[in-house]
Amino acid sequence: MYTIRTFTYGSADYKQAVDLRYKELRAPLGLLFTNAELQKDEPDVHMGLFDENNNILVCLTLTDTGNSKLKVRQVATDSNQQGKGLGRKLSDAAEEYAKQHGYLTMYCHARKVASPFYLKLGYKIVSDEFTEVGIPHYVMEKTL
Ligand SMILES: CC(C)(COP(=O)(O)OP(=O)(O)OC[C@H]1O[C@@H](n2cnc3c(N)ncnc32)[C@H](O)[C@@H]1OP(=O)(O)O)[C@@H](O)C(=O)NCCC(=O)NCCS
Repeated sequence: MYTIRTFTYGSADYKQAVDLRYKELRAPLGLLFTNAELQKDEPDVHMGLFDENNNILVCLTLTDTGNSKLKVRQVATDSNQQGKGLGRKLSDAAEEYAKQHGYLTMYCHARKVASPFYLKLGYKIVSDEFTEVGIPHYVMEKTL
């Protein structure tokens, strides 16, 4: 059984999410999180999908960037749990949150390797390829 919930910056859930983000997003690139980077998380909405023991399996972060747009960041599914539809479940919940809060568009800086995931969720590529954290990305966007 899975639970989806939002949690706040600095909470125990948030600490689990940072560990998951580090394991799935940063360590494979040989990168760390700086304190300055993590401080940017403070005003954001953090959302996770947890198992029955309250272990986080999927996380994401939502940043209001103005103009009724919500940026999805730091999406990661634990590598033992990928390909089971859990990333989609949490993304659907994030979309529901966005609609309920009046956002019109969701977008992300998608790693090129993850772009098929976002295409499956109905996002479109709306930029040329660009480099972030040393790897190719696209801006991908979904109108709600
Ligand atoms: C990308 C990521 C978040 C996807 O999460 P997930 O839980 O494995 O995805 P799901 O199982 O919910 O997949 C949803 C759909 O996308 C497809 N999909 C997911 N990742 C894919 C990939 N890399 N290539 C092709 N299709 C993919 C699935 O097959 C599934 O399709 P279906 O609905 O037709 O069956 C996860 O693989 C991950 O954490 N990767 C490492 C970190 C990363 O790259 N994060 C994204 C940063 S932008």
